[in-house]
Amino acid sequence: MQTIIQTLGNKEEFVRAAAEFIRDEAQAAITAKGRFHLVLSGGSTPKDIYRALALPEYSDQIDWNGVVCFFGDERRVPLDHMDSNFLMAWKTLLSRVPIPDENILPMPVELDPEQAAAEYEHALRLAPGQDSRPDLDLILLGLGADGHTASLFPDSPALSETKALVAAVDIPDMNPRVGRLTLTLPAMNHAAKVLFLAKEQGKEAALAGVLSGDRRFPASRVRAREQVVWMILQD
Ligand code: 6PG
Repeated sequence: MQTIIQTLGNKEEFVRAAAEFIRDEAQAAITAKGRFHLVLSGGSTPKDIYRALALPEYSDQIDWNGVVCFFGDERRVPLDHMDSNFLMAWKTLLSRVPIPDENILPMPVELDPEQAAAEYEHALRLAPGQDSRPDLDLILLGLGADGHTASLFPDSPALSETKALVAAVDIPDMNPRVGRLTLTLPAMNHAAKVLFLAKEQGKEAALAGVLSGDRRFPASRVRAREQVVWMILQD
């Protein structure tokens, strides 16, 4: 696996680099196999990138019929709640591009946590790839100041998951303090590529820890089959 670290000096460069990367990956996957399985991240950092992807400059270059969007984690609130990752992605990207509704797969937050995790695992497995595990082309992830990614927080039992692709998480150190659903390391590490999107400010220690491979920072444990790319905004 290859790791690429790109530092970007301002927001415009950061947004452009990420939007171009996602567009290129979508085009390559759709040309190769007619489908692009993309996992969207929550948090605030991707918002401008999602908005950029919805602009004609990028959107017109993507065959949205071939794009299938999953979510890397979700807060257990209704999908129209202000803390919902789905709502953020819907407002900034999904409602603005011609992606078929059936290609958008939000996490089933209305179910009880264990059932929701099992249902979403099932949805992922309907996108079969090698070893009957899902064929995820690109997972977008963020980084928290404590080194968490998606909803894999330091010391969380979900970090030790070796089989299940989705876990329910309910630990005190989460902001907002609501239960979550998250992809696990077995799901992330089976993806072809992972793109981390992180602003450096306030996350210097986490970035240093993760990039030096310190396993106490959950993001350091994420691998992918081909490539992990870090885009870091230094502004
Ligand atoms: C979430 C996320 C989470 C996020 C990081 C970074 O649901 O909150 O998926 O892992 O990506 O906390 O968040 P920011 O982009 O807001 O810094």
